[in-house]
Amino acid sequence: MVSDKSFFNQNSFHDPKRNLGFGIGLRRPHFDEIFTHHQGVDFLEFVSDNYMNCNDRDREVLEKAGRLFPIVLHGVSLSIGSPDPLNKEYLQNLEKLIEMTNAVVFSDHLSYSSAFGVEYHDLIPLPFTKEVVDHIVPRVKQVQKIANIPFLLENPSYYVEMPGAEMTEVEFVLEILEKSDCGLLLDINNVYVNAQNHGYDPFEYVDAMPPERVYQYHMAGHYEGEHCIIDTHGSNIKDEVYRLYEHSIRHTGPVSTIVEWDNEIPPLDELLGENRKVRRTSKAALRERKRASA
Ligand SMILES: [Fe+2]
Repeated sequence: MVSDKSFFNQNSFHDPKRNLGFGIGLRRPHFDEIFTHHQGVDFLEFVSDNYMNCNDRDREVLEKAGRLFPIVLHGVSLSIGSPDPLNKEYLQNLEKLIEMTNAVVFSDHLSYSSAFGVEYHDLIPLPFTKEVVDHIVPRVKQVQKIANIPFLLENPSYYVEMPGAEMTEVEFVLEILEKSDCGLLLDINNVYVNAQNHGYDPFEYVDAMPPERVYQYHMAGHYEGEHCIIDTHGSNIKDEVYRLYEHSIRHTGPVSTIVEWDNEIPPLDELLGENRKVRRTSKAALRERKRASA
């Protein structure tokens, strides 16, 4: 039986940090099946960029999903750190998509994907400087105003450190979140990947994030290459990432969590199995958190 949003309704609509439970990123191969086969799926995430000016079939799926599940939208081309002004057409399309899906949260990455009118089709890391903080904060406020639903920034994976850093990645993220009063979409796999590639402690990273700023988690798989590890979203979530998630949940308490799987997309059953494993891991971490505070 399809969800009637009852889980969602238990949470106050006015609480921007409400816990939506455990969801999946819905991708096209699962469009038909999700409406009959969704045990354990509390909410759905759509990649917003794929559905702006969408066709009739996509619209039908989005509208139906929006009636049956809480929806969160996740973007890749807002380009919050770009030197260019925010794209007005993109923001107008985003507004329409939020309305169409009845979305409750919108997120995008703390990076940029276009500059001087050129689209890079990739997420480019930002230099960790005060100038970039000052550039991004008013842009976040602009998006918050237009979206009119909570806007979250995600910590992206990156493979080169931009020169000129005046602060650490943690300090950079925290300054932007605090100054713009923005929520964090904490991608646990990205923390793990970056920590391995850039030589920092992933547990210290998640401990530094204030629990009240962590509005959502992403969990995903990665590929371990010879010289670095790559955030592929194309495999099962590794045990090390589960351990970091467990640690982070003990730190933050319960937070909405999405499993992202974008490449080598498996049968829906396998994705739902990963979703169940995330739920079990979170529940175990919360029991431990409760025991520790007793
Ligand atoms: Fe992510």
